[in-house]
Amino acid sequence: GNGTVGPSLVPPPGTSKHAPHSIIIGVRKGGTRALLEMLDIHPEVAAAATEVHFFDWDENYAKDFEWYRDQMPYSYPNQITVEKTPGYFTSPVAPARIHAMNSSIRLLLILRDPTERVISDYTQVYFNRLENHKPVQAIENMLVKNGALNTRYKAIQRSLYDVHMRNWLQHFPLEQIHIVDGDTLIYDPLPELQRVERFLHLPPRIVASNFYFNQTKGFYCIRSDGHERCLHESKGRPHPPVNSTVLRQLRSYLRQHNRNFYRLIGRTFNWQ
Ligand code: A3P
Repeated sequence: GNGTVGPSLVPPPGTSKHAPHSIIIGVRKGGTRALLEMLDIHPEVAAAATEVHFFDWDENYAKDFEWYRDQMPYSYPNQITVEKTPGYFTSPVAPARIHAMNSSIRLLLILRDPTERVISDYTQVYFNRLENHKPVQAIENMLVKNGALNTRYKAIQRSLYDVHMRNWLQHFPLEQIHIVDGDTLIYDPLPELQRVERFLHLPPRIVASNFYFNQTKGFYCIRSDGHERCLHESKGRPHPPVNSTVLRQLRSYLRQHNRNFYRLIGRTFNWQ
């Protein structure tokens, strides 16, 4: 929020670092950066600048809890601390570890249509590899192996929301996990942010004028404290077209997983 302090060596007077009150646990490519940046509009929110990867990376978890707390931003006493690491949602170990730290923590999970998420995941890896001068594959080559859908492809595995959610529900009651609709967040962010404010027991401070649609970017951007900013150019990239037969196979594979997921959480989405 506006009171949030950037990384600095000297703590501003009256601030300190705290373990998060809330964590955005994922999903990768669900809109996690947009959610964190939009939540950070709130004056009573202090958001961690980078992904911390404490609970999903063993080499970080092996460091102590003080290390984790040190990754958090300086915050004022009236602020809550929020971090986001999208890798937590699909990590088999993260739920138990987060529970061990704080069993009453409030978790935020932003999800979008899992088929779209697969394509977005592919696109991110594609551009990362291009930047690192590594060879790239067409999306169909990733999605299909020996003529059948390659269900072991990581991007598909990460879209099996029911599988991962079951693991979280072993450790946390559903009431502690608020699901943000990542598809809605793209074209109408305010209501989603207002629901998050209520879930976190924050006073309503985020308003319509905090968002403006940027025609060039094709996405909403943020107006806060007299500044206007859009997300990084890596957020909101065009997706490649996908062969329609392959796309149909992917959709039909995910359909049952989606139904399972709806049943788990007692809510449905318009996912294809
Ligand atoms: P695409 O780049 O595939 O469109 P994450 O931050 O979890 O990696 O999610 C990235 C996704 O956030 C983007 O995926 C984009 O669709 C979505 N998003 C939602 N709101 C956005 C916004 N206001 N600006 C840019 N991207 C946004």
